[in-house]
Amino acid sequence: MKIVVTGGAGFIGANFVIHMVKKYPEHEIINLDLLTYAGNLENLTEVEHAPNYRFIRGDIADRKFVFDLFEKEKPDIIVNFAAESHVDRSIEDPESFVRTNVMGTTTLLDACKEYGIKRFHQVSTDEVYGDLPLDRPDLFFTEDTPLHTSSPYSSSKASADLFVMAYHRTFGIPVTISRCSNNYGPYQFPEKLIPLIISRALADEELPVYGTGENVRDWLHVSDHCVAIDLILEKGKVGEVYNIGGHNERTNLEVVKTILKALDKPESLIKFVTDRPGHDRRYAIDPTKMETELGWKPQYVFDTGMKQTIQWYLDNKEWWEHIISGEYSQYFEKMYGERL
Ligand code: NAD
Ligand code: TYD
Repeated sequence: MKIVVTGGAGFIGANFVIHMVKKYPEHEIINLDLLTYAGNLENLTEVEHAPNYRFIRGDIADRKFVFDLFEKEKPDIIVNFAAESHVDRSIEDPESFVRTNVMGTTTLLDACKEYGIKRFHQVSTDEVYGDLPLDRPDLFFTEDTPLHTSSPYSSSKASADLFVMAYHRTFGIPVTISRCSNNYGPYQFPEKLIPLIISRALADEELPVYGTGENVRDWLHVSDHCVAIDLILEKGKVGEVYNIGGHNERTNLEVVKTILKALDKPESLIKFVTDRPGHDRRYAIDPTKMETELGWKPQYVFDTGMKQTIQWYLDNKEWWEHIISGEYSQYFEKMYGERL
């Protein structure tokens, strides 16, 4: 099998590529990534010399490039991780999210239609369901929850999901979609909450918590997400959506305090800053379908997963120091300059 993983130099994509290259020496894994600010080949040093791994630089929204690639490589499976993935950036520049997340996805689907494909898997997010109220802990997102997006990011992902389903129904493309909750783990770009807090706390810098810090996210270790996608490729039913999550709901403030405790840093570093516009209150996945139909169960409990993740950032300081000293420092200044 030839499997093209798009966005394989990003956080989850790189973890997935490493998982697949190691687990399936008989499969050829091609990592197709544009290497935007979020793409980093240093995430893949573990597998870069593996005989069943190759990297190709390219843009999923570049039709000529994508069609040439399909013509040459004739992939069996596409797993589409490539995306603009940060909500705050989508508020600053929605159009780049339409280009990559929507048009990039339809370009890949068009190539699948032209050249054929055994499976097109779309990596989506629970954010397509919008948010849940904080005072209704009994409510969860199921696969049947209506799409009801809040941010330009989630709107672009929901739009892509609708196109994926339309290409299945109209053109018979064999698709699956997974919608996962917030991921944490190694190689997450330090603009996202957990690595941002770890890196800033280690430098004794102020820790920006949006609004009151009461918003709830449902955290899943990235390796549990990768195993789930692997399982969907193997056993998932074409035309189906699968929600992925492990019932690890935490308020943002709880997450920040957990990190401070683990690093032995004072809570006085916390600074409550202006809220994110349209900030989703609570995400919470009901993973029953993954568990009962595909037999998936997450391996990590949040506390152990977080301990290991914090240790990874301590052991790999060079990896993130390299990022935060580069062009990212201008982004931080622009987004947080007046808030901190
Ligand atoms: P990321 O931002 O870390 O990585 C995105 C990758 O896509 C980068 O390597 C980037 O270079 C690449 N890319 C961007 N535009 C491209 C283009 N036009 N062509 C080719 N490559 C391009 O993102 P992530 O956090 O690893 O998320 C991966 C996927 O998982 C996304 O589709 C996201 O919506 C989804 N997801 C993320 C989370 C999460 O918590 N991070 C949760 C659920 C779903
Ligand atoms: P983030 O990691 O951006 O993921 P998402 O918005 O996709 O859930 O943010 C996680 C939560 O943390 C979200 O509620 C916003 C909040 N947050 C902060 O409070 N401060 C920050 O500096 C960042 C980046 C996020």
